[in-house]
Amino acid sequence: MSLLIRGATVVTHEESFNADVLCANGLIQAIGQDLDPPAGCKVLDGSGQYLMPGGIDPHTHMQLPFMGTVASEDFFSGTAAGLAGGTTSIIDFVIPNPQQSLMEAFHTWRGWAEKSASDYGFHVAITWWSDQVAEEMAELVAHHGVNSFKHFMAYKNAIMATDDTLVASFERCLQLGAVPTVHAENGELVDHLQRKLLAQGMTGPEAHPLSRPPQVEGEAASRAIRIAETLGTPLYLVHVSSREALDEIAYARGKGQPVYGEVLPGHLLLDDSVYRDPDWATAAGYVMSPPFRPREHQEALWRGLQSGNLHTTATDHCCFCAEQKAMGRDNFSRIPNGTAGIEDRMAVLWDAGVNTGRLSMHEFVAVTSTNTAKIFNLFPRKGAIRVGADADLVLWDPQGTRTLSAKTHHQQVDFNIFEGRTVRGVPSHTISQGKVVWADGDLRAEVGAGRYVERPAYPSVYELLERRADHHRPIPVPR
Ligand code: URP
Ligand code: ZN
Ligand code: ZN
Repeated sequence: MSLLIRGATVVTHEESFNADVLCANGLIQAIGQDLDPPAGCKVLDGSGQYLMPGGIDPHTHMQLPFMGTVASEDFFSGTAAGLAGGTTSIIDFVIPNPQQSLMEAFHTWRGWAEKSASDYGFHVAITWWSDQVAEEMAELVAHHGVNSFKHFMAYKNAIMATDDTLVASFERCLQLGAVPTVHAENGELVDHLQRKLLAQGMTGPEAHPLSRPPQVEGEAASRAIRIAETLGTPLYLVHVSSREALDEIAYARGKGQPVYGEVLPGHLLLDDSVYRDPDWATAAGYVMSPPFRPREHQEALWRGLQSGNLHTTATDHCCFCAEQKAMGRDNFSRIPNGTAGIEDRMAVLWDAGVNTGRLSMHEFVAVTSTNTAKIFNLFPRKGAIRVGADADLVLWDPQGTRTLSAKTHHQQVDFNIFEGRTVRGVPSHTISQGKVVWADGDLRAEVGAGRYVERPAYPSVYELLERRADHHRPIPVPR
């Protein structure tokens, strides 16, 4: 089956040009002027629209067992919602319980994800440490296409990685050519502040941001960055939400350290007043970690994207319905942490980023797709419009509008953090593996159409570090 997209302006992270794009067998086969459609080829008129690489969301949690419940979005519904929003690949997280085998957890998540409608990969979380964990990390890298490991520096007494685990795991990443990633919040401080606030009688969602102030994130970011610097690993920080964390990234990058930052549309656009909504359920709907921040942080994050200190956008898509959020009715620290966004990320970013002049179209492509593909070694299979790349594309209507709402979204959750926001610039068509899966409101997602995408170890950042003669040279470690 083949598909010819005619007359669109092709926009990549570095250039834009008018061309037809021919897709067949799941790949981009030709890019050029006035291409002839082969026999039986479908033709899609792209005139007046932009053709961009499909979005890659590097941070999702489909059907995650978390905080005593399970995220409401499964791998099919979540990836289908992603397709409706122009996102054609995700990287989700395998999160083993402490003491659980990494391989066992990995196979469990692989099983859950078989129903995915779009391509997917996995980061694997390191929630405990032992020789077995070290061995299984090697197995995952060598035989299962995992090149990144996640460390939660928060969630004490659950999945938090303590400093000894961080050090051991980063060292192992160095040996394996894998990228360590962190959720940067000081879990001890969060735990302390949660207890203190509860003791003071603050039990509602308004206490959530008070228990996780920006310093808590800045401290953890600094610690993780210094551990990475000392050991000589790159580092990727997920959901950077505060000026404090961003300053740490900028400082490290200013010294030449390979540190990468991810930001969520929610942190770019929402402020902490949402937690003071008089309606408990509404305020609880916004509970995620790190929390939305006072207003000054949002401008700082936009500048982080503009200056190249933040590299990717994600959603941390982790859905809990109102009845699940109600588990924390009397205790804010028990409200399941997480919000949705996979369907809205690209449109929100376009509207608030490109339409306002904060981002160029090329920067938009970079931060929604190409940079993620590069950092996690999917490029140029993903994140690119070139012959031989996967035919994962989004046809973007810059004049189309959509009003975001839980009543109309495809996400399997009864809350939308962008409720009522009208965006201009929407995906008119999404193409996954060369097939049109979203066409002007018609979602044609198929159960199981998505493939597990292996991400080989990525030694180039390490080779770069090793060649350096400056003070970032890590202490030599036998391999
Ligand atoms: O609140 C959040 N972000 N929930 C999902 C787990 C995580 O921390 O990424
Ligand atoms: Zn997190
Ligand atoms: Zn997350």
